Amino acid sequence: MSLAPDHETVVSATSAEWWRQAVVYQIYPRSFADDNADGIGDFRGIASRIDYLAALGIDAVWLSPFYPSDLADGGYDVIDYRDVDPRIGTLSDFDTLVDALHAHGIRVLIDIVPNHSSNRHRWFLDAVAAGPGSPARERYHFYDGTGPDGSEPPTDWRSLFGGPAWTRVSDGQWYLHTFAAEQPDLNWANPEVREYFLGTLRFWADRGVDGFRVDAAHMLAKDMSRPLPTQAELEAHPFDGTHPTWDRDELRDIYAEWRTVFNSYDPPRTAVAEAAVHSSRVPLYASPQTLGQSFFFDLQLGDYDADSFRRIIDDCLSVAAASGSSVTWVLNNHDTIRHASRYGTPFPGYGPGGEPTRKHGGDWLLAGGDPVLIDAARGLRRARAATMLLLALPGSAYLYQGEELGLQEVAEIPDAARQDPSFFRNRAIEVGRDGCRVPLPWARTGPSYGFGAGGSHLPQPLWFGHYSVEAQEGDPASTLALYRSALALRRELQTGEVLEWAPSGRDDVLSFRRPNGWRVVSNFGAEPYPLPAGEIVLTSGPLTGTLPGETTIWLRS
Ligand code: GLC
Ligand code: CA
Repeated sequence: MSLAPDHETVVSATSAEWWRQAVVYQIYPRSFADDNADGIGDFRGIASRIDYLAALGIDAVWLSPFYPSDLADGGYDVIDYRDVDPRIGTLSDFDTLVDALHAHGIRVLIDIVPNHSSNRHRWFLDAVAAGPGSPARERYHFYDGTGPDGSEPPTDWRSLFGGPAWTRVSDGQWYLHTFAAEQPDLNWANPEVREYFLGTLRFWADRGVDGFRVDAAHMLAKDMSRPLPTQAELEAHPFDGTHPTWDRDELRDIYAEWRTVFNSYDPPRTAVAEAAVHSSRVPLYASPQTLGQSFFFDLQLGDYDADSFRRIIDDCLSVAAASGSSVTWVLNNHDTIRHASRYGTPFPGYGPGGEPTRKHGGDWLLAGGDPVLIDAARGLRRARAATMLLLALPGSAYLYQGEELGLQEVAEIPDAARQDPSFFRNRAIEVGRDGCRVPLPWARTGPSYGFGAGGSHLPQPLWFGHYSVEAQEGDPASTLALYRSALALRRELQTGEVLEWAPSGRDDVLSFRRPNGWRVVSNFGAEPYPLPAGEIVLTSGPLTGTLPGETTIWLRS
């Protein structure tokens, strides 16, 4: 598989196309490092760990939302898009952090949440106060209810976090929220909303931000013409650009306007869409005329299985190439059970209709998260092998804080300590995403395992110290050492965005070559595989004269 000729050459780190094969490390600010011992991670905490980030060898960080928020959805309920939550820091702390990251050669992406604001955003408070028919209500989706006294919601639509997608205000009107009730959907048909976000992009780009991760990018545009469809009609509607609430064609115009803003900077600001869409629809988001890149969640949702990895890799490479983009590979983020646990669970991970159930916590968590039912060692072995495979693919790699420590999902969070709205709204079918958001362990011991001098806003389990940075530092067999070596070698070896499959003679062994003499062999099976010729530069696990099962090696020739 090869891409356009101009992408077969090396893209230098200073080029406008730096993002094409960048390694981006996601920081969930509230859970990374806590400077002032209040149990909540902050900008100064991140700044105090810059040497760690630099030594890891990443190209950029993506900061999940740090804006003022009531934390109804972990910060994805934004009260002010142009400020910093006082618990996380100040705008001046932000500037200091960006400067320090830049000084270490690390670029900065931030999360932008355009589909919905917080219900405590000034606009929403104004809309509630101003009453039905007011211009303030036009910034959101307010409608009268149905039924004799309007006491039934306008439609039977469901929120993605469970429960109804409409909530009633005291004057009797209802507002739409695709997610939690504290996250009213903004009305993107209103030019004022569009202008406000263009200004917000400029606000942050002017402060030196290098790019944006666009939350729920496929949801902004909605056809709200009456009569509104039912939930069953929404589900039956084709997802072809004409769906009333999902992945509509007019998003292209919205993101083309964003692109004009991005390209007014030098180098152009970048963006990556979080868009849950069919691969045929990815170009709308990933083209150079719109956001430029879109996440590919296929590996994250799929099994640890050679066949599906190979199919997904081919599909994603061709879709990205057709978009004029590169693939963004992902195995972990703040929304999904950590891959070291996911790959160790005996549960199938699919519901009766074949739909993946691991997302947002999975069937093992739902069944109680009993550690006895999970093979953590195997999960970690597979996770290391899968990560080494991912890091050898053409395109950019998104890593999530803590995966470099081989962290397992934290299942043992008491109900009373949980924070995720998907737990509260959807209790019967998901446990929520708190288990991958537990503050990082930096030290073997201490009140919050080195996260800070105080506690931790989500409880850390007793086994956390074992996975700490301190416990792994200096251990060449540690997962931290593996990530550091892999990222350093990737810098040396990575050239053009080209991958050529090599026959392995076995269905459960994937083998491919990259330019520059880089060769990758990944044994997904149980049987050992003969070691290929060449200089072995990295392995995801110990070798035994052969390549053992669930192990990946990199070779150089
Ligand atoms: C995205 C975020 C997720 C959030 C949701 C609503 O999916 O990744 O964390 O809950 O959008 O903003
Ligand atoms: Ca703090």
